[in-house]
Amino acid sequence: MDGFVIERAEKEELDTLYKIERECFPENTFPKPFLKYLIIQPNSVFLKAKINGIIIGFIVGVIQIPYNIGRIYSLDVKPELRRRGIATRLLQALETEFKLRGVTFTMLEVDVENTAALNLYQKFGYKTQKLLKNYYGKNRNGIKMTKNLVQYSTDKT
Ligand SMILES: CC(C)(COP(=O)(O)OP(=O)(O)OC[C@H]1O[C@@H](n2cnc3c(N)ncnc32)[C@H](O)[C@@H]1OP(=O)(O)O)[C@@H](O)C(=O)NCCC(=O)NCCS
Repeated sequence: MDGFVIERAEKEELDTLYKIERECFPENTFPKPFLKYLIIQPNSVFLKAKINGIIIGFIVGVIQIPYNIGRIYSLDVKPELRRRGIATRLLQALETEFKLRGVTFTMLEVDVENTAALNLYQKFGYKTQKLLKNYYGKNRNGIKMTKNLVQYSTDKT
């Protein structure tokens, strides 16, 4: 989809970002203070997608210094705007910024039932590392996925 831009998120946008987080994760929502912390702390990469000035999604990851590991915490696209390549662009932009800042390895956790996210990450070269039993609550397992950023290109040509 054309017409959207990816920009750094600002702390003044916290309310909107939190609203999207609640929409995308009605359970296991990241608390607002945690999102605020992620916006302001210097090792974070917090990017938003915008159309006509309206925020429609975001991605946030943290660089774990000194290990050069980038951990992806959240990737959210408003439900009515999904399947238009917005998450793809957000993830590409995050990986680009990670690489520019010396990250060589990324990791994330995803719900085993989250087919959309699993497909997306697999497309980007993320590999299943291990099963995280009850990670999202009782009988809600997660998967830890990792990617070596120096081996894969994010080009989708
Ligand atoms: C997962 C999510 C971020 C994907 O956002 P999106 O903007 O719709 O993703 P894209 O349009 O860039 O899709 C890229 C690829 O992901 C996969 N994908 C996305 N949505 C999918 C779905 N509903 N079912 C199956 N595969 C899907 C496909 O492989 C897709 O490529 P294709 O459209 O060429 O087939 C979005 O569904 C979302 O916000 N979900 C709720 C929050 C969440 O689960 N975040 C991830 C947490 S780890």
